[in-house]
Amino acid sequence: MFLLNARITAMREVARGMAVISIAAPEIAAIVRAGQFVNLGWAGVFLRRPFSVYRADGERIEVVLKAVGRGTSQLLAMGPGDVISCLGPLGHGFDLEAGSRTAVLISGGLGVAPMPLAAKEASALGMRVTWVHGARSIDELCSESAGDEVIWATDDGSRGIAGTAISAAPDGDVVLACGPNRMLAAVADRWPEALVAVETYMGCGTGVCLGCAVPLTRGGYDRACKEGPVYRAADIDWAALPSHLSYAVTV
Ligand SMILES: Cc1cc2nc3c(=O)[nH]c(=O)nc-3n(C[C@H](O)[C@H](O)[C@H](O)COP(=O)(O)OP(=O)(O)OC[C@H]3O[C@@H](n4cnc5c(N)ncnc54)[C@H](O)[C@@H]3O)c2cc1C
Ligand code: FES
Repeated sequence: MFLLNARITAMREVARGMAVISIAAPEIAAIVRAGQFVNLGWAGVFLRRPFSVYRADGERIEVVLKAVGRGTSQLLAMGPGDVISCLGPLGHGFDLEAGSRTAVLISGGLGVAPMPLAAKEASALGMRVTWVHGARSIDELCSESAGDEVIWATDDGSRGIAGTAISAAPDGDVVLACGPNRMLAAVADRWPEALVAVETYMGCGTGVCLGCAVPLTRGGYDRACKEGPVYRAADIDWAALPSHLSYAVTV
């Protein structure tokens, strides 16, 4: 794990209000795995904010984000040359094993975040990668994709198949998913063995504060920042995600 003062090198818009930020972080770029995240901090926030690593090359990592509150608005207002504190890579990513022939990646909205890196790793293991790329409408659909085949799906039919990413998804030897937790609960119903990247609140991001507890079907809790954020879908007790939080599955 590295703690870097890292310079923002570029920023590009990929959907309405959604941007990809490139950050010079060679130490993290060299070792990060798909599904892992970085915890970013800057002068305007007390607690760091977690972001999945979207892409990584020799020198840079990228994260994709949208303004949902104060922190993400501040980050989107920054630009090339600004320096942020970057802690990572953190968490346990997608465990992909050689031998599978097909990988199906399912993303909803900002759930695109871990997918380009996941597509790269699955391709490197010889899998044919299909990315089912969903959002509410074309405006909210990230324009970037990766893999051998891309299936677009929008709730309102403004691009690709009209319907959810799950209804548009074929079966695969390996299924990976990221998106709203309600979507991931539906993924668990159809593919209990799928690997899903969940969202929780996070305080420390390093396993200390227990702010990211995820209820498990076998009983007890895990720390999303340490044992997660990627889980076998059937291992999460989706209905027990805290109902007072925005990421609950039942309210
Ligand atoms: C492992 C992980 C990876 C993530 N990756 C990405 C990513 O790649 N791109 C991205 O845009 N976002 C990602 N998120 C969510 C992101 O961290 C939150 O949206 C961000 O912390 C909100 O900060 P804020 O100050 O803008 O919002 P706040 O002002 O703190 O809150 C604004 C709204 O966002 C909700 N919120 C706050 N924190 C979280 C959270 N951690 N999860 C869900 N809802 C939250 C609040 O309930 C509120 O409705 C990830 C979260 C986790 C746990
Ligand atoms: S965020 Fe502190 S233990 Fe996970």
